[in-house]
Amino acid sequence: MYDHLTVVDHPLIQHKLTLMRDEATPTSLFRQLLREISQLLAYEITRELPMTTKTITTPMQDMDAPTLAGRKLALVSILRAGNGLLDGVLELIPSARVGFVGLYRDEETLEPVEYYFKVPEHMDERLVIAVDPMLATGNSSVAAIDMLKKSGAKNIRFLCLLAAPEGVARMKEAHPDVPIITAALDEKLNEKGYIVPGLGDAGDRMFGTK
Ligand code: URA
Repeated sequence: MYDHLTVVDHPLIQHKLTLMRDEATPTSLFRQLLREISQLLAYEITRELPMTTKTITTPMQDMDAPTLAGRKLALVSILRAGNGLLDGVLELIPSARVGFVGLYRDEETLEPVEYYFKVPEHMDERLVIAVDPMLATGNSSVAAIDMLKKSGAKNIRFLCLLAAPEGVARMKEAHPDVPIITAALDEKLNEKGYIVPGLGDAGDRMFGTK
């Protein structure tokens, strides 16, 4: 069922994630841990980036040295909590182009509604990494990926911190071509759509709001 899902089960990630889940962890530490985990996840998600070589001159001699091939990748933050993951990934891949998708949930229909969309050009030629810490119901993730595909993106990966089985299944149904990379697959959603055991509202914990 979860063949498009990779859970990065690394001791450092799991240790830091436990600290993030703990309700006693303050905002500043929560943000720092998220940045650190996102760098470790980014390392994993970029493992198979295409490579080429270029000729350089070291202090000793010329060499054909490995370098990333193709257009710079695009990181797309799903607002607002996506920005916490974005910061860490950008530190690791500073030359990446950056886009933003803003969605809110209509109170009556409960469907995601777009309020902002801005992405780099040539989306069809880039690896696009959409970032959102919490893959819960999957509604906003599916809508964001719909929008990215409309902008031309063909090679998309979804990076999150925690995933619920319900969100993973929804993504697989709507976008089976989009691999998901996460630090943990949690048990379920509660009746309000929160991931349990989870870590609460990622945006609130990251930005100190309630
Ligand atoms: N969004 C969050 O921030 N937390 C959840 O548990 C689910 C969605």
